[in-house]
Parts: sequence; structure tokens; C-alpha cells
Amino acid sequence: MTDEGAASNPGRVPPRPGSEGVPHEVFHDVYRRSKALWVTGRPQPAVLTAIERGWFHEGPLFDAGCGTGENAIAIAQADPTLEILAMDAVPEAVRAAAGAARAAGVEDRIRFEIADLRTDGPPSEHGCVLDAGVMHVFSDADRPGYLKVVHDALRPGGAAIFIVFSTEEIRPGGPRRLEREELVSAIQEAGLRVESIEKSRYETLGHEGGARSWLVRAFRAPMPVEAADSR
Ligand SMILES: C[S@@+](CC[C@H](N)C(=O)[O-])C[C@H]1O[C@@H](n2cnc3c(N)ncnc32)[C@H](O)[C@@H]1O
Repeated sequence: MTDEGAASNPGRVPPRPGSEGVPHEVFHDVYRRSKALWVTGRPQPAVLTAIERGWFHEGPLFDAGCGTGENAIAIAQADPTLEILAMDAVPEAVRAAAGAARAAGVEDRIRFEIADLRTDGPPSEHGCVLDAGVMHVFSDADRPGYLKVVHDALRPGGAAIFIVFSTEEIRPGGPRRLEREELVSAIQEAGLRVESIEKSRYETLGHEGGARSWLVRAFRAPMPVEAADSR
């Protein structure tokens, strides 16, 4: 999760983070000083897949760790009735996202806020939470707090969509990687029920073809009947 220069020079890429996660300061530095690897200028393909599947149908949507807003904007454009709350810890990212939402003409439906999602999140009023490349930045110690924030942002029956780097991504650069079982356990321990987990990609400027990732859909109980039936 470093800069573009590091991506083109693997010798400078720091070792992949383990249980300590990505140091929190990295995000403040990256947005201030360089182009972040994950800022590709377009929404994640996995988010577009989720849109096509109707996974964001139940609003309002909470985009956790929204970065510069490409995903939230694409979702808002796809559904002109959806209300979105987008939060990130880094003021520079949130400012850029708010500017992009204005330029796209969807600023009336996306509210941007700054928050440290390890401890602080919105109330349980969301039909859906999107985590596009966020959970995998946290340390083992911080992950349960973050997942509690995700869980608590959902109303009963609401869905959480996660895109998380997988251990199958062996190229350098990026956040920590998670095994399928480790990921499912972490989500279930937060009180969410995993409905589906599949191989996917998370696009970055440093992983040609996208970084090997998991696309997960989980629900806060009770899982809607149609989702339970599709398992
Ligand atoms: C890999 S980026 C993904 C950004 C965006 N979801 C996307 O796909 O373009 C991870 C994001 O998580 C944010 N983040 C990291 N730690 C955070 C925290 N404790 N609270 C809120 N956001 C955080 C970073 O600032 C960054 O924007």
C-alpha cells in the first residue's frame, strides 16, 4: 500500500504486512504525498459486478473506507434513488471524494464524513455496507473493532460486501493477505453470516490484471429468505 514508484521498483516495496497490518499513518502520508496504488480512477470491477447483481439494492449504503470515492459514485450513478454515507479516516481522501461526487452530479446523495472506523461508525440504519479493500489493512488487534463497526452500521437483515486480498496474491506490494477460512471466521465472529465467498480481483496500479482477492457477501441476522435459499 505504498506509492506508484514503489510499485515499479519492487526492491523498494516494504515487506507485506502480517498480523500488524498496514500502519495507520501510511494512509495519511500516501494521500498527501503521492498517488495511492488503489486510486485507479475508476470503480473496482468487483463493485460493478455487485451492482449488476443488485447487491446494493437495499439502502442506505455505507461505504466504509471510501478513499477517493470512485465506488460510491458509480453505485450512486447506477441507482438514482440510493442514499450513501461514505467515510474515511483521511481528510485529503474525503475532500477529493466530495469533489469527484460534485463533478459527477451525485453530491446530493452521498454524504462524506471523516472517521476512524476502528472505533467509530454510523448507527444501525444501513441496508448495505461496502468494504472495498479496507478490512485487509487492519492489524489482527484492530480487525474485530472494525468489523463490529461494520456489523453495527447494518440494520437486521442488511448485507456487507467485502473485497479482500487473498493469500493467492503472491506479487509484492499491497496490504496483508487473508486465507479463505481466516476471512470467513473473522466475519462470522463479528456476528455476520457469510452467504457467499468467491475468487475475485481488486484492481491496483501495481498488480497487472488485478490483485487476487475474495469477494464476500455476508448478512446481519436474520438473513433474508432469498439470500439463505441461494446458498
Ligand atoms: C485500499 S484503500 C481502499 C479505498 C476505497 N475503498 C477503494 O476501493 O478505492 C483503504 C482505505 O481505507 C482507509 N482507512 C484506513 N484505515 C482506516 C481507518 N482506521 N478508518 C477509516 N478509514 C481507514 C484508507 O484511508 C483508504 O482510503
